[in-house]
Amino acid sequence: MNVEQVVVEAMKKIRNAGFEALDGLRAEYLGRNGCLTQILKSLSQYSVDEKKKIGSAANIAKNTIDSEIEKRKEKLKKNLFDEKVKKEVLDCSESFYFPFSKGGFHPVVQMIQEMSSVFVSLGFSVAEGPEIETEWYNFEALNIPQNHPARDIQDTFYLEGSNSLLRSQTSTGQIRVMEQYEPPLKVIVPGKVYRNEASNASHSSIFHQIEGLSVDENITFVDLKSVLTEFSHIFFGSGLNVRFRPSHFQFTEPSAEIDIQCPFCKGKGCRVCKNSGWIEILGCGMVHPNVFKAVNYDPEKYTGYAFGIGVERIAMIKYGIDDIRLFYENDLRFLKQF
Ligand code: DAH
Repeated sequence: MNVEQVVVEAMKKIRNAGFEALDGLRAEYLGRNGCLTQILKSLSQYSVDEKKKIGSAANIAKNTIDSEIEKRKEKLKKNLFDEKVKKEVLDCSESFYFPFSKGGFHPVVQMIQEMSSVFVSLGFSVAEGPEIETEWYNFEALNIPQNHPARDIQDTFYLEGSNSLLRSQTSTGQIRVMEQYEPPLKVIVPGKVYRNEASNASHSSIFHQIEGLSVDENITFVDLKSVLTEFSHIFFGSGLNVRFRPSHFQFTEPSAEIDIQCPFCKGKGCRVCKNSGWIEILGCGMVHPNVFKAVNYDPEKYTGYAFGIGVERIAMIKYGIDDIRLFYENDLRFLKQF
C-alpha cells in the first residue's frame, strides 16, 4: 500500500471504531511496526527525490491519522456523556435532611431590592458609587461650599492625612454618574452612608439611602411629581394620599419633601405619625444649576430632578419598627422575621 491508500483505509477504520479499538488502530498505523513506520523504513530503496516526497507524505499522514484518532475519542466521550445525562432522572420528590437553616437577605438588602425593582419598572437604571469619597463629591460639587452651614447636619468621618471622607449621602452618586454619562439619564444609586452622630432609636452613624436622578431636555417638576407619586403608590399602596411639602436642599431648587398618609392610622393620627396623620418618606427637588455646572452640563439646555430616600426609614414605616438599631444588632429573633 502506498501512503495515500494507508490514509484512506485508516480513516475509514477510525470513523467506525469504538473506544477499545482506537488504541489498536494507533499501533497498527503509527506504532513501531505500523504501516507508516514500515514505509519510512523502506525509503532507502528510493531515489533522493522520491525519498523526500514519500517521507514528507508519510509524516503528514502520521499527523492526520493521529488527530483523527483524538477527534474520534472526543466524540465517543461526548456521546457517552450525553447518553448518561439522558438516562439520569432527577427525583424532586426525594426528601433530604439539610442540617443548616437556609440563609436569607438582611431586611435592609431586601428593602433595597424591593425599592430598586419598583424604580427599574419606572425606567431607572441602577448604579453604584464608592463609600470613601472626597469633599468635592460629597459637598462642593453638590453646591455645598466649604464653611457652608449645610455641612453641619451632614458631619461625617474624615480619613486622617487625606482629604477623603466617608460619604454622608448617596447624592455623591449623582455627580459620579453625570461625570461618566451624557444626558438623557435616569438612574438610582443605592448604598451605605455615614454620619458623625450618636445612635438612638431613630439615628444611626451608618445607614442606607437610595438616590435618584433624571436629567434630560424639558424635564419639569411634573415629571418629579408623577414618578415619585407613582413610586409611593406602588410601594405603599394606592389607597394612601401623598403630599409635597416645600423644603430646602443645597443641590435642588425648588426642593420638597414627600409625606405619605400614615399607613397605620390611615391619616387619623397615632403614635407612629406623632398624631399628624403624615409620615415623611423622602427629600427631592429640581437639580440646582450649580450642580450641572460642576459636571460641565449646560444648565440652559438640561433640567432634571433628584431625590434621596432613607432605606431603614422606609423599612421602619413599612413594618412598624420603632428602633433603627435593631437592624444592626444581628439578633436572629429580629432578622428571621423578614
Ligand atoms: N442627600 C439628602 C440627605 O442625605 C437627601 C436628598 C434630598 C437627596 C433631596 C436628593 C434630593 O437627591 O434631591 O439628606
